[in-house]
Amino acid sequence: MCGIVAYIGHRNAKPILMEGLKRLEYRGYDSAGMAILEGTTGRLRTDRAVGRVAMLEEKLEGRQEFEGTLGVAHTRWATHGGVTEANAHPHRDDRHGLVLIHNGIIENYAALKTYLQEKGHRFTSETDTEVLAMLISELYEGDLESAVQGALREVTGAYAIAVICEKEPDTLVVARKGSPLMVGIGQGEYVVASDASAIVAHTTQAFALDDYNVVKLTRSSLSTSDIHNTPVTPKVTQLEIDLQEIELGGYTHFMLKEIFEQPKALRACVSGRLDIREGRVVLGGLAAYAKELTKTRRIVLTAQGTALHAAMIGRYMIEDLAKVPAQTEYASEFRYRNPVIEEGTVVIAVSQSGETADTLAALHEARERGALALGVINVVGSTIARDTDAGVYLRVGPEIGVASTKAFTGQVTALSMITLFLARKRLMSADQCADLMRELDQVPDKIQRILDQAQRIARITERYIERENWLFLGRGYNYPTALEGALKLKEISYIHAEGMPAAEMKHGPIALINEGMPAVFIANRGRQYDKVMSNIQEVRSRGGHVIAVATEGDEQIARLAQDVIYVPDVAEPISPLLTVVPLQLMAYYAAVARGHDVDKPRNLAKSVTVE
Ligand code: AGP
Ligand code: GLU
Repeated sequence: MCGIVAYIGHRNAKPILMEGLKRLEYRGYDSAGMAILEGTTGRLRTDRAVGRVAMLEEKLEGRQEFEGTLGVAHTRWATHGGVTEANAHPHRDDRHGLVLIHNGIIENYAALKTYLQEKGHRFTSETDTEVLAMLISELYEGDLESAVQGALREVTGAYAIAVICEKEPDTLVVARKGSPLMVGIGQGEYVVASDASAIVAHTTQAFALDDYNVVKLTRSSLSTSDIHNTPVTPKVTQLEIDLQEIELGGYTHFMLKEIFEQPKALRACVSGRLDIREGRVVLGGLAAYAKELTKTRRIVLTAQGTALHAAMIGRYMIEDLAKVPAQTEYASEFRYRNPVIEEGTVVIAVSQSGETADTLAALHEARERGALALGVINVVGSTIARDTDAGVYLRVGPEIGVASTKAFTGQVTALSMITLFLARKRLMSADQCADLMRELDQVPDKIQRILDQAQRIARITERYIERENWLFLGRGYNYPTALEGALKLKEISYIHAEGMPAAEMKHGPIALINEGMPAVFIANRGRQYDKVMSNIQEVRSRGGHVIAVATEGDEQIARLAQDVIYVPDVAEPISPLLTVVPLQLMAYYAAVARGHDVDKPRNLAKSVTVE
C-alpha cells in the first residue's frame, strides 16, 4: 500500500525520489512528501502535499534547499488520522533533527504516545507514524541504527520505514516487518523502495528485506541485522523487470495496456508448462511436493478481491476435474474464525502482489495449523511467495493498473494447470488432460479475437453509463466471473454493481430491477445454458436491459438480449478466461466515459498491506 523511496549516494536525490514516487503512484495514496538533507547546510528540508505527487513536485520546483544526496520520499494511504498535510509523511522528531517515513500501522501507538508525551515530546499530527519517529528520537544516543532497533523492539504492528538524521549525514536506516521494502544496490549508491518498479531504472541488483531486518546504508557500505543487532546476510538477486514493462508504451492507461497484454501474458504463463504430447503439466515449483499433493484430502483457496474470484474458479475446477474437496475463503475471515485444518489439507494463497496482509495472515495461520502452503503469485520473491512451501508464479509481468486484469486471467490459468497437475496424479487420463491443455494453449488467440471487438464493446458500454446500478449474473464457472465484472465496474467507474449467481436473483435482488436497469449476463454455452436463458427472460419481463456475453454462433440469444458480445467457444472450466475480457473492457470504457482516472481510482491501493 502506498510507497516509500529513499536514496543515499553521490547524485542529486530529488529527481530520483520524485521519479520513484511516480513509479509507485499505482499503489494508491492520498498525499505525498519528501525530505532531503540539504548538501550545503546539512539541514533536513521537508515538504508535503495532499493529493497527487504532481502537487508535491510543483511545491518543490526550483527550491535550492532540496539539493542533496540523501533523502526519503513517501506516498501515504491514511490509516490513522485524516488526509491532511500535517499527517502526511515524512514525520520529524522534536530533538535530534531526524525524519521518518512509514508504511503500515503501529498498533500500540496509543500507549507509546502517552509514554512519550510524559517524556515531554510534542506531537503535531494524529498519526501512529509520528509516535515511532518520537520513540526513535527518545532512544537516540548518537547511533541512529541502534535507536531504530531499540524502537522497533517496542512496537507491534506492521512497518516499512526509512529514517535519516541531521547528526549522521552519511547514514540511511531502513527496516521492515509486514510491509514490503527492497534495497537496490548501485555503484556507490543505494535506492530503497517499496517495490522494484522504483529501483530498476537505477540498478538490477537488489534484495528484499525479511521481517525484522534493519539495514544501515552509508555511501560506501551496507550492513544488515535484525532488531536485536544480530547480523543477517541478505540474499541479493537480479531484478528481472524490464523498464518497458512498467511504462505505458502508447496506451492511455496501464489498465488498458494490461487488458490488451493478456494474450502475450498468458502465453508466458503456460510457456514450457504444457506437455501436450505426454498429456501432463510440468510445474517445476510443485515437483518436490508431487507425492504429498497426490495425497491431498482438502484444498482451501484463500485470497481477497479479484484474486478471490480467481480462487473461486480454481475451486470449481479442482472439485470438478481433480475430485478433491475444495473451498474458498476470504483470507481476512479464514484467519480469525478458528478454522479446522485436518491432516492432508493444502492451502493455496492466491495473490498478484504477494504482499496482501490479509492473505499473508491467513497463510501463516494455515501453516501453523499444519497445512501445506502453496502460492499462486505474480511478484517473484514477494513475501507470500517466500512464505509458502511451494508455488506457481503467474509470469504475466508487472501489473501496474490498480484494477487487476491480466493477473486475474493469469491466476485462473495457473490454477487450471495446478488442477490438471493434481487430476493427472489421481484419475484423469493423459488424453483428457491433453485435450484441456490444447484448449488452454489456444486461449491467447481467442482472447485476441475478443480484444479486436474493443471499439464495439466501448459503444455498447456508453449506452448505459448514466445508470447507477448494474447487475452481473452468471452460473457455475461464470458465477465468479460475474463477481469480477461487478468489482471491476465498482472500482474504477464508481457505479454500484452487484454480482451474483444468476439463480439467486429471483430470491430477492429481482426486486431491484426496473425499466432500463443494465443486467450483464454471462451466458456462454455450458451445462447451465438453458437455466441462464430462463433467468434472462425473468429480467426482460421486468424491464431490465440485458447485455449478454455469449458464445460465437449463438443466434437464439440475440433475440433475447438488447446487446450481445460474442466470445469464441472454449472448454467450460476455462471459459472465464474469455468471458471476463468483455467485462474488463466495459468497466474500463465506463470509467473513461465518466471521466475518471482509471489508473488512480479513489480510495484504492494496489496492494493492501494492512489488515
Ligand atoms: C482488483 O482489481 C483489486 N484492486 C483487489 O481486489 C485485489 O485483487 C486484492 O486487493 C488482492 O490483491 P493481491 O492479488 O495483490 O493479493
Ligand atoms: N499508518 C500511517 C499513517 O496513517 C502510514 C500509512 C501508510 O502506510 O501510508 O500515516
